[in-house]
Amino acid sequence: MKFDKPATTNPIDQGKIVGKPTDRIDGPLKTTGTAPYAYERHDVVPDQAYGYIVGAGIAKGRIDLLDDSAARKAPGVLAVVTAKNAGKLGKGNFNTARLLGGPEIEHYHQAIALVVAETFEQARAAAQTIRVDYVRSKGAYDLARAKDSAVMPTGKNEKDTAVGDFAAAFERAPVQFDATYGTPDESHAMMEPHASIAAWDGDKLTVWTSNQMIAWGVGDMAATLGIPKGNVRLISPYIGGGFGGKLFLRADVLLAALGARAAKRPVKVALQRPLMINNTTHRPATIQRVRLGATRDGKLTAIAHESWSGDLPGGGPEVAVQQTRLLYAGENRVTRLRLATLDLPEGNAMRAPGEAPGLMVLEAAMDEMAEKLGIDPVEFRILNDTQVDPEKPGRPFSQRRLVECLRTGAERFGWSKRNAAPGKVRDGRWLVGMGMAAAFRNNLLTKSGARVRLGGNGIVTVETDMTDIGTGTYTIIAQTAAEMMGVPLDRVVVRLGDSAFPVSAGSGGQWGANNSTSGVYAACVKLREAVAQKLGLDAGTAEFADGQVIAGERRSALAQAAKDGELVAEDAIEYGELDKRYQQSTFGAHFCEVGVDAHTGEIRVRRMLAVCAAGRILNPKSARSQVIGAMTMGVGAALMEDLVVDKRLGFFVNHDLASYEVPVHADIPHQDVIFLDETDPISSPMKAKGVGELGICGVGAAVANAVYNATGFRVRHYPITLDKLLDHLPTVG
Ligand code: MOS
Repeated sequence: MKFDKPATTNPIDQGKIVGKPTDRIDGPLKTTGTAPYAYERHDVVPDQAYGYIVGAGIAKGRIDLLDDSAARKAPGVLAVVTAKNAGKLGKGNFNTARLLGGPEIEHYHQAIALVVAETFEQARAAAQTIRVDYVRSKGAYDLARAKDSAVMPTGKNEKDTAVGDFAAAFERAPVQFDATYGTPDESHAMMEPHASIAAWDGDKLTVWTSNQMIAWGVGDMAATLGIPKGNVRLISPYIGGGFGGKLFLRADVLLAALGARAAKRPVKVALQRPLMINNTTHRPATIQRVRLGATRDGKLTAIAHESWSGDLPGGGPEVAVQQTRLLYAGENRVTRLRLATLDLPEGNAMRAPGEAPGLMVLEAAMDEMAEKLGIDPVEFRILNDTQVDPEKPGRPFSQRRLVECLRTGAERFGWSKRNAAPGKVRDGRWLVGMGMAAAFRNNLLTKSGARVRLGGNGIVTVETDMTDIGTGTYTIIAQTAAEMMGVPLDRVVVRLGDSAFPVSAGSGGQWGANNSTSGVYAACVKLREAVAQKLGLDAGTAEFADGQVIAGERRSALAQAAKDGELVAEDAIEYGELDKRYQQSTFGAHFCEVGVDAHTGEIRVRRMLAVCAAGRILNPKSARSQVIGAMTMGVGAALMEDLVVDKRLGFFVNHDLASYEVPVHADIPHQDVIFLDETDPISSPMKAKGVGELGICGVGAAVANAVYNATGFRVRHYPITLDKLLDHLPTVG
């Protein structure tokens, strides 16, 4: 189905099931521990052997000697895979050749060997006997030092943008702001480690894994191993969190496949937790400079946002200036990304790549500027709202209700009670402050397919390679099919995450919900036509409701259409030019109240509110959970998360969950989420967008702004830890 005109009224608008708060259909499996995750699929194939990964002990250089003779003779060992015996590996689209290093080493903990044995313990014990001698070479590990040699990246949307004359407008501006901020490297730290079971049947490979983007994985696996795509099957029905860290294949998948080939047995591999942080990808650190120029009455006339980040050769930048191209009006503007070569582990996407760290800076700068101007921060943002793309003034937003998000949030949060003078509100030993920030994240459209079956028992089965990374995909897809086919939710079966099913959008960039349900919508339109034809009813006017198909005076049970055999329909949603004519984005506002201990500088978040405008909310219950989770992650980014770089040896020091801090329940207070009631007919037939990344966008700045309001001291380098505040707290009376 081609979607190239704004959506009109369609069966989803009935809203009998779609848009209703709905319990997860996979909830019982999750809460009883019976949803099968990759590493626990003991039953899918017999004779599974265990793989244990050895990671490089240097960040850059080469292996001089790798002696695995003792390992090969160790009890239970079936094979040892290294670059020497693995055969030639292709590069794939996401540099999968790097997943097995040697003799060149590109980053610390890059996999250099896999030991396969009868048991996990035997594989681990044998791995300890592998002796490796390295020759180190000099690497670059310090962003602040590499910054001056950084260059403009060449990717789409990564080049400099400029409108008007920023330099002149900034110079002329009666009120100016210019500051530099920093955001640290961060890790996805998902609960389920990267894990895979690989089994060969002749030259056909099946992998049970944990992956967000099945079709990308199939393509890369085939390219890396040099086998046809048709010989690769990836199965990933349940995923214990991804956050972007499972968008691409990681070492577990490739090494499981190579290990299974070498051992002539199915092999299972999980990345050991202490290996995960340096072996896989992370959100790169940034240094960001923001310059704002405004009139005395608060109109922005000049905006410049520059961001520096680093990556391995061939990598890309953290696109932290994206939102600044679109969020506020202002006639003279510049954005610049600069990319340095760093020999740290690979930087890549993590929940709201670009906007998450970008808004942590832009929205803190907006708070600082509002104070300089003496204007309320909410009002300052409203004053500078725009309904058109500020870099391409003829191009409107499909829908943009940022102002309503801000006003609704301010009212519901009790913003008027905030004391604009910082460091003045006390509650016992706590200094109390309020902060807010705007939220922004783009809405991306991408082709997505599905197959729908109607059985003679009236059961509707949906099949698509779409994944559920903990977001609630199973449920929104079931809701979509139920609404379209006029059956209750419990008559729908959803099967996901298998490359044997039609290719979907996958889970990434908060595009999963809108695109994957639109693919299901397209397939259901076809199935409705097939049903109507079978029943001899007019497809154009037939209504599907309560398990019946009704056309005029005639009605028939839906199941009747499949009485002679299952009806199957398959289609994909494909998009025309609408997203070129309209800028499609999601909007929100975050509010936060913190307490800072006046004596120790300890920071406690006291309450939080998010207001989101993101098209039709398909399932307000799972969408709320997405936003709550994202707000929690935003608090982590503001106050805790920090991969500490060893700048001499080039690795992340705190590479486990004991030392990489993320919020726990005790850190998170009352959170509330409000969705504005809207539908966006430009986005898809579902009129939906996404919230999974919008929810984290701006949160860090809202927390930072609250800490400033509480203490009167601005920390511009995240995370805001108490050591950075301690010497700057107001004198305790
Ligand atoms: Mo997302 S960071 O595109 O999984």
